Amino acid sequence: MHGGLPTPVVTVRLLVDGIPRTLWLKLEAYNLYGSIKGRTAAALWQDVAPRIDGHIGFIESSSGNLGLALAAIAAAHRVPFTAVVDPHISRFLLRDIRALGARVVSVDTPDSAGGYLLNRLEYVRDQLEREPRLVWTDQYTNPANPAAHSRWTAPELHRQTAGAQMSVLVAVSTGGTLAGFRAYASATGAPWELVGVDVTGSAALGGVPGRRVLSGIGASRASAFLPNGHDPTMYVTAEEAVNTCLWLDERTGIGIGSSSGALVASALRLFHADPERASVACLCPDGADRYSDTVYSRDWRHGQGIFETGIGSGVNVLAPPSVQAAPAAGDPALGDQGNTRGSP
Ligand SMILES: Cc1ncc(COP(=O)(O)O)c(C=O)c1O
Repeated sequence: MHGGLPTPVVTVRLLVDGIPRTLWLKLEAYNLYGSIKGRTAAALWQDVAPRIDGHIGFIESSSGNLGLALAAIAAAHRVPFTAVVDPHISRFLLRDIRALGARVVSVDTPDSAGGYLLNRLEYVRDQLEREPRLVWTDQYTNPANPAAHSRWTAPELHRQTAGAQMSVLVAVSTGGTLAGFRAYASATGAPWELVGVDVTGSAALGGVPGRRVLSGIGASRASAFLPNGHDPTMYVTAEEAVNTCLWLDERTGIGIGSSSGALVASALRLFHADPERASVACLCPDGADRYSDTVYSRDWRHGQGIFETGIGSGVNVLAPPSVQAAPAAGDPALGDQGNTRGSP
């Protein structure tokens, strides 16, 4: 069993308020199925596969990335899969999920918390009642979700950054990634300050629920993996996240998704606040490819009331970004990932 592909860490050297800093971006867009959810899907599948009836299949609620990864796994194993999504899903992900043969159900009624999650889950529960043999991978409570990151993602980053002491910024939706990183750091003593990054309007880590427009980050209810929230947590607006994506793309050519934009926006805030802070790592869940009709579309931005802000003021990119070598396939340090395909 493997946990997806090893993904590259890109080093971006910055001058923030006149002081040199290093931003590390771990680009999960280079993972299987184009996002960090390739790892989560592998772990969830491993957990449920023995229980799946080949004719009935399985179901999952997803903002898109996990739906695509599970659709690909279902196609490979020739079992039916239903992805329960909402109108925020990228139309590119929707096209790819359908092309893999999955059934797609879009829940279009917003819930009382300003998102769609609660209504997506109600639909899943209703389907499970109607068909008791249907299996739900349940990324929201299944311990296989955080385990994917404590077992694969976190140790990989630790090796790639040579055990450096640093802040690691993690975007939150189910809380699975952050919970996995917490478990890894407390088990190994990795010298990390783990910072949760959420969007305003998200209740994932105890925030006040409200309208949200970004997909992939935030949730309508508290994370089951982090029931007491997380300290420190930073909240980012959609405007900050989106403008940071545009700034990074323009200055470095690195195209990131909106939750990654929230991470980099938080990193810039941390640099501005503390002249002594030399480096920050961001675990970037996905890339620009699935956001060309949203984050990277002027029409979409203006339709959402998102306009240009001076997010990069006081920040200069010092040199072209460079890639930290990802661990090679067969590297004994990769443990049970060692037999996967090579790095991208
Ligand atoms: C775009 C995006 N942002 C953030 C996350 C982090 O989510 P979670 O808290 O569910 O691990 C994910 C999923 O891994 C994602 O696909």
